[in-house]
Amino acid sequence: MGRKKIIVTGGAGYIGSHTVVELVAHGYDPIIVDNYSNSFPEVIDWLEELIGFRPINHNLDCCDYDSLKKVFSDNSDIAGVIHFAAYKAVGESMEKPIAYYQNNVNSLLVILNLMEEFNVKHLVFSSSCTVYGTPDNGIQVAENSELKPPASPYGHTKIICEEIIQNVCGNDKIKASLLRYFNPIGAHRSGKIGELPIGKPNNLVPFITQTAIGIREKLTIFGNTYNTPDGTNIRDYIHVSDLANAHIKALDYIGNKQNEKCSIFNIGTGNGNSVKEVVDAFEKATEMKLNYQIGEKRAGDVEAIYANAQKSNSILGWTAERTLEESLLSAWKWQLNLKAIDFKLD
Ligand code: NAD
Ligand code: WQD
Repeated sequence: MGRKKIIVTGGAGYIGSHTVVELVAHGYDPIIVDNYSNSFPEVIDWLEELIGFRPINHNLDCCDYDSLKKVFSDNSDIAGVIHFAAYKAVGESMEKPIAYYQNNVNSLLVILNLMEEFNVKHLVFSSSCTVYGTPDNGIQVAENSELKPPASPYGHTKIICEEIIQNVCGNDKIKASLLRYFNPIGAHRSGKIGELPIGKPNNLVPFITQTAIGIREKLTIFGNTYNTPDGTNIRDYIHVSDLANAHIKALDYIGNKQNEKCSIFNIGTGNGNSVKEVVDAFEKATEMKLNYQIGEKRAGDVEAIYANAQKSNSILGWTAERTLEESLLSAWKWQLNLKAIDFKLD
């Protein structure tokens, strides 16, 4: 039997590119679809270096039905779709809500239409821990924890997309896994691919590595008076390659006839770390001093949240393997690589 073809929308992005590497390692044939709205064509070159051949890739917008239809019609034997493509910046979604609904919801609808039309049955969808908002009952959330009214249009798109997929799976034509990612960090161990935030990073780890390398003057820790042991926010930071592997497990899970039509899995380590602990771990792992200060709380930040990962551990058969230090070291290696190849993001 030949390698199974998987369409990977957003495959040039941060999580998508790492998943492409894992798909190839597990005998799949990824077909990347990306419009580079938040990534760069160079990622395809870096992937080629890593996997030893040029991955099939199409520069197109997933909201463009006709263009995406051609990818489906040119490949008669597509086994599934992993749908990463979306806009993901929480703050930007407050300023441009329509663009977020338009891109994130429309792209999903186009894909679902084409899946049905071409009899492609398996879908893995990128959801987010943002659907839990600020949890009421403790800070560890499970898949059956209450979902909260969305704090941002971005978060709302994830809730809407989850609901659409759940309803569509009722028709027996499509089976899906909704993966609720916690905080992906780090980079492939080679340092050849990683996170490429355009402009000033919103996320903690790219801000740390850019500060350490001198692109940013100093990191501001957003508040240290939260009700947590050291006063800083708690999150579940997961190595992006572990996260990528969860997609392989999800494809296996969906492929088994006995399994749920629409499954939901938390993809996190099951451990919480504070912002201060991340900074300390970075300093320890790299043996560097990081320039940082304590600043104001950031509006909208959840105090503390981390995954209950029991369902993905026992049912998906997936567990996060890499440590926080390993994740931070890989992020640093990636930052050093970007400097070595003189890749400019601003
Ligand atoms: P990313 O921005 O690096 O990757 C998304 C990719 O999709 C980019 O390459 C972008 O160019 C592409 N894209 C966006 N809209 C497109 C469209 N209409 N057509 C074609 N390509 C399009 O983001 P990421 O961090 O890799 O996130 C991947 C997915 O995971 C997203 O759905 C995101 O919402 C979700 N997610 C991310 C995080 C995180 O912290 N990174 C956490 C939870 C969930
Ligand atoms: C982590 C912690 C900050 C930057 C976001 C989205 C969420 C999901 C994951 C997509 C927080 C603190 C950060 C800085 C800091 N994405 N921080 N100084 O906010 O947990 O989640 O990404 O679905 O929806 O909201 O991630 O990396 O922005 O922040 O102190 O310069 O680091 O306050 O406690 P967050 P983050």
